[in-house]
Amino acid sequence: MTELEVLVLDKQAVLAAGGDDMGLAISAVEHVLGCHARGETVLPSKTVLRWGGPETELHQGRINAMPGYVGGRYNMAGIKWIGSHPPNVEKGLPRASGIIILNDPETKFPVAILEASVISAMRTGAVTGVAAKYLAREDATRLGMIGAGVQARTQIRAVCHVRPSIREVRVFDLNAERCQAFAAEMEGVLGIPVRPAASAQEAVDGADILITATTTTKPIVKEEWMRPGMFYAQVGGYEAEIDVLLHSDKVVLDDWTEVMHRGIATPYQAAAAGRFSRAQLHAELGEIINGTKPGRESAHERIFFNAVGMGTEDVALATDVWRNAQARGLGQRIKLWPSGPLTGLAG
Ligand SMILES: NC(=O)c1ccc[n+]([C@@H]2O[C@H](COP(=O)([O-])OP(=O)(O)OC[C@H]3O[C@@H](n4cnc5c(N)ncnc54)[C@H](O)[C@@H]3O)[C@@H](O)[C@H]2O)c1
Repeated sequence: MTELEVLVLDKQAVLAAGGDDMGLAISAVEHVLGCHARGETVLPSKTVLRWGGPETELHQGRINAMPGYVGGRYNMAGIKWIGSHPPNVEKGLPRASGIIILNDPETKFPVAILEASVISAMRTGAVTGVAAKYLAREDATRLGMIGAGVQARTQIRAVCHVRPSIREVRVFDLNAERCQAFAAEMEGVLGIPVRPAASAQEAVDGADILITATTTTKPIVKEEWMRPGMFYAQVGGYEAEIDVLLHSDKVVLDDWTEVMHRGIATPYQAAAAGRFSRAQLHAELGEIINGTKPGRESAHERIFFNAVGMGTEDVALATDVWRNAQARGLGQRIKLWPSGPLTGLAG
């Protein structure tokens, strides 16, 4: 009889297997986005389990099911099942928690179960990092960050990885205490000044690269704050006025269909209001990576980027981590089908 064994990697094992390696995450995400644009992935739309409309997610949370298959150097299937409950943060708990399951694409057997929060945050940062690599000015020195939560950490690490020219980060969060602690922590991580800003506008002012990663459901970033040459990556969804998008020279998404399906971010709101259409989209990021569409073409272009996030990115990075864990003998092996006679056969 076949024994079905899965490798379980808790947070510590994920970290020990390279889950916190930004170079690894950026390489994985860039590969996946290129595969995506060449049709070498399978990406069913995200299923969102929630207790009302999108506006209820702020107070009642949601759980996303994000399956995907990645070809290329991965050849792996899987799913991220990740819960989000913003009120957790006020109780000192993380907003997001979940697991990733990897499945052998031949037998379809599950082969690994991984703690998801590290991989999820790393791949989300890496998406912005890859976008900045192609869309931010090469001489960018100032990074503006709105939001000082879990995602903000990997966002600024990823951007500093691809733009070592960054000399200063200014960060704003509604929670001033969290903002101060974040600035002190990240200054130690990055080795450059990370200064708390007194307002969102102060964080944006003078920034070459702007990132928003908050749980707001109302716009924060105003059109009049934006300057030529800026690269703006919207991670949360609601954070920009529609005019910020409409007045950008280029709009780039990870995937038009999935951003529209999720139905939250500024590009969706602009499209739903009849003010933006697919014809106005410059490119999906994978097309730029593959060289079929140009990235930044001048120092003056203002570029808007939004990524809805794709399960394929989680599957790819989780596969790297799983392979490293196997090579390093990490994790706990669990037999789902122990040897011996089976009673009760599942379909
Ligand atoms: N696109 C993707 O792939 C992707 C992936 C993961 C998370 N996200 C999104 O990123 C966002 C941030 O996630 P997180 O894990 O960092 O959450 P978090 O709860 O750890 O941090 C969010 C921070 O935003 C701050 N905030 C809320 N409203 C604000 C406002 N108006 N101005 C300034 N700060 C404000 C909060 O005080 C908090 O510190 C969420 O909306 C999440 O859904 C997107």
